[in-house]
Amino acid sequence: MTTDPKTHLDPTQLHPLPAGQTLEQAIEEDDDRPFEPAKGTPSAPTLGALWQKRISRRDALRGFGKTGLALSLSTSAFALAACDTSQASSFDFIEIEHGVDETHHVAPDHKAKVLIRWGDPLFEDSPAFDPENQSAAAQLKQFGYNNDYVGFTPLPLKNPNSDRALLCVNHEYTTDRLMHPGLATAKDPRAAYTKEIAEISMAAHGGSIVEIARTNGEWETVSDSPYNRRISTLATQMTIDGPASGHPRLQTSADPSGTKVIGTLNNCAGGMTPWGTYLMSEENFHMYFSGNVEGHTEERNYKRLGLPRGIYPWGAFDKRFHIEQEPNEANRFGWIVEVDPYDPTSTPVKHTALGRFKHEGCETSLTEDGRVVVYSGDDQRFEHLYKFISSKKIDLKSRSANLNLLSEGTLYTARFNEDGTGEWVPLVYGTGELTEKNGFTSQADVMIECRYAADLVGATQLDRPEDVQPNIKTGKVYVALTNNKIRPDSEIDGPNPRGPNLWGQIVELTYANNDAASTEFTWDLVVTCGDPNDEAVKADWHAGTSSNGWFACPDNLAVDPKGRLWVATDQGHAWSQKSGTADGIWALETDGELRGLARMFFRVPVGAEMCGPCFAPSGEALFVAVQHPGSDGTGRWEPFARASTYDDPATRWPDFEPKTPPRPSLVVISRDGGGQVG
Ligand code: FEO
Ligand code: CA
Ligand code: CA
Repeated sequence: MTTDPKTHLDPTQLHPLPAGQTLEQAIEEDDDRPFEPAKGTPSAPTLGALWQKRISRRDALRGFGKTGLALSLSTSAFALAACDTSQASSFDFIEIEHGVDETHHVAPDHKAKVLIRWGDPLFEDSPAFDPENQSAAAQLKQFGYNNDYVGFTPLPLKNPNSDRALLCVNHEYTTDRLMHPGLATAKDPRAAYTKEIAEISMAAHGGSIVEIARTNGEWETVSDSPYNRRISTLATQMTIDGPASGHPRLQTSADPSGTKVIGTLNNCAGGMTPWGTYLMSEENFHMYFSGNVEGHTEERNYKRLGLPRGIYPWGAFDKRFHIEQEPNEANRFGWIVEVDPYDPTSTPVKHTALGRFKHEGCETSLTEDGRVVVYSGDDQRFEHLYKFISSKKIDLKSRSANLNLLSEGTLYTARFNEDGTGEWVPLVYGTGELTEKNGFTSQADVMIECRYAADLVGATQLDRPEDVQPNIKTGKVYVALTNNKIRPDSEIDGPNPRGPNLWGQIVELTYANNDAASTEFTWDLVVTCGDPNDEAVKADWHAGTSSNGWFACPDNLAVDPKGRLWVATDQGHAWSQKSGTADGIWALETDGELRGLARMFFRVPVGAEMCGPCFAPSGEALFVAVQHPGSDGTGRWEPFARASTYDDPATRWPDFEPKTPPRPSLVVISRDGGGQVG
């Protein structure tokens, strides 16, 4: 960092909080619809009548013939007609119960072991975790905060059954009030923010690559592996490729070339490519920038992304996070980053061909002819779904030839039709509305202002698209739409059937011939989430789903080696309104008569969110990321009923030591005595 301490700005004045709001409330409200979509967007066909048509179609598909709407919306009526448990479930575990307490829970006959925690060493010379004496230098050698995405890749790459592997783990953000003693006492903790705290936060963001080894069936971390690596916002040099590389809108005083950037921000979910690289998504990067956007050279672009949000007052200490002092820095975030975990000296690459927005994740598959496909949701209310297809084909003989596959290709956005069909619409400069008329002068402009481009081609406005998970066994694609409490009832449509929608839904896409190259698809809802026993919720589950089997707010998805779907949830602060249980992992049937039947498998401690479900290729280990334990909605948990802080946390999971704060941690789940998880 280059800032002279004498010239620091006042962190609280960077971006004043709305009157009467605490910092936590401001963050909670952050994903409200920020701006109206671009002028020229076709109005969505969102009439209740269309939904009725859709319901009728779905019932017909399920063999209900001309069932009336009222009957079809009633889960209990649905149950009488649809309950057929003659098909054996592909899952083999006894589910756990909804609930909230200080610790985690896993299904019987399984064990869950903490593998690595915030602050654990990654190198031989890493200092021991000492939360009262933190430094950015120490944090750069330790496991980062708020683990999110988890990817598994074997060592060596060609041996899926190896007893050695690399885990690639995102560190999405920091919960500073739970990390630092005394920080939370002020109503606005930014008043107590220092340059050191800002640098520790930047060092705790990013990702970790950590080797794991299996002995007698148990995975452990290798704390001095030469593969271990920290990627951070503070210190990791990256390059920028693709259509926006070097563009004047990406040039800054520190990088007049517009091709190099330090760090990555808010890495939420991610993906592993078929050639064993690690993709990190940049999601809520707007939270780290401050300054005045009115009259700014990037006003339209920044406003469409809710920039600058100033939740983290970094702009007080480092001018690149202040949009008036460094006007283009924010254009260098919001991308997909590719990292080669097999070469710890490699330079990560931001691929601008995959577009700039609030990427939740970036899971991959291949087309029939061998081109790579990357799916990504833009996680904000009323935002869009995207798919990238590379120009070139995968090279099965030369791994290095694949390292630039994501540099060139076509980005598409999804348009859902009410009749159960949909299209992927290309975002290509010079076509349709994507011309000078709307301010686009090159493909770089289209990629930098992806949301605006998607608005103009009529992309469907979805209920917060989170993880998009292709099932490579079946060719189907699953999209988690997590919730949208501000969708009005007058704006519902097929994939977004409720307004307001507190609970979310999971959409399934199917391609003709299962070829992901197709620009046409059909779609259906697998489940419409929420309490099936509350008619007002209008949930839709298989009738065999128990009172513990239903969930709310699907977020991260995973498909295990048997092709079975697993769902992790993130209900946020309002968990008690959504389900009343802590977040967790549920197994969800997608095929046959049991489609839509879910069972609860794992539960996180109070205040945590469930992230990163990831299976080892054997199916005998499931890695999960417990993010921000003791953080969200602890005021709504009766035994605690107050805001959680470093000095007074709702839980001290996983250490439960008197002076140790709660620590985001990776957990590995296995079956007692071995065998397939779940
Ligand atoms: Fe980082 Fe969309 O959750
Ligand atoms: Ca997420
Ligand atoms: Ca996933």
